[in-house]
Amino acid sequence: MPGMTLTHLAALGHHQPPHVLTNDDLAGLVDTSDTWIRQRTGIERRRIAREESVTDLAAAAAGKALAAAGRDPAEIGMVTVATCSAVDRCPSVAAQVAARLGIPAPVAYDLNNGCAGFTTALATADHAVRAGAARHALVIGAEKMSDVTDWDDRSTCVLLGDGAGAAVVSAGPPGGAPAGAGEDRPGVGPVVWGSDPSRGDAVRLLGAWRPRFAQDGQAVFRWATTELAPLARLACERAGIAPHDLGGIVTHQANLRIVEALVQRLDAPRAVVARDVVESGNTSAASVPLALSKLVERGDVGTGAPVLLFAFGGGLSWAGQVVTCP
Ligand code: ACO
Repeated sequence: MPGMTLTHLAALGHHQPPHVLTNDDLAGLVDTSDTWIRQRTGIERRRIAREESVTDLAAAAAGKALAAAGRDPAEIGMVTVATCSAVDRCPSVAAQVAARLGIPAPVAYDLNNGCAGFTTALATADHAVRAGAARHALVIGAEKMSDVTDWDDRSTCVLLGDGAGAAVVSAGPPGGAPAGAGEDRPGVGPVVWGSDPSRGDAVRLLGAWRPRFAQDGQAVFRWATTELAPLARLACERAGIAPHDLGGIVTHQANLRIVEALVQRLDAPRAVVARDVVESGNTSAASVPLALSKLVERGDVGTGAPVLLFAFGGGLSWAGQVVTCP
């Protein structure tokens, strides 16, 4: 849209706690096996935070993104942390991260949209920067799912992991795009988002006292593999790009079978597909920025490449957009 401020992802960062929990470790806790977990979910291991809190994970990822962006903390006008596992209500995790990083006066708040939290927060930051409410925003997805895991429930404890990913969203068009490609295309594309509250019971994290993650796994699996591909395609259409031209796809890392089914229905042969669920498990709102940051760090997707982000989960909710890789 002429005259509208464009935004772009300026930099990314991620952090995972050092402790690795393998499928064999889990087989020592509940009645499961490495073979079952690999076959049904693709997960081989996940990271579990011990002393680290959601704030620790978020601040570590955010500090790396801020340093990579080369921004002074005083330039950051907005800090958002997407999380559904944080135990702190006030100050928010975002306010705590801002204090730790020396960001002096941002609007800082937490956002809970389950596993779709990061892409939802990215859209709200994009909108705020476009509207001139901030020039640079720090958007973080951070989860300590191990705090809300029912370690006696073999159908869910094998899925979850801890971690964080972060992005700096800045005003202006993306730099580094190949000449002629995407000059008029925003670095953060239009969001496709929504929810189906009538199916909210399919994923639950209820109550104040020891809330525990529970889900109707088969219902979520059916929904994700049959209803979400058209919405992901719509995010490409709104960004003015054919799936065929995507350089990368980062879906919510819920289960490798869901990732493969979604990608297959998108027909994007050139796209590098994030499969971080194999080594990180399902880290809820952290999964998309964590997987994206790793793809970029490894050089699997190059600067300027269009990457589809698409997250979904509790709500049931979804949010996705095409971004230009920093
Ligand atoms: N080890 C061994 N057996 C198990 C385990 C386990 N860890 N968990 C369940 N089983 C058993 C069940 O008891 C069942 O046994 P039964 O046939 O004797 O009753 C059998 O395995 C099959 O169970 P299903 O639930 O049918 O297994 P399914 O193939 O559907 O896989 C899974 C379950 C992995 C949870 C799958 O449904 C799934 O991934 N769903 C989507 C989950 C998701 O994406 N959630 C995200 C939403 S929110 C968020 O991301 C935070």
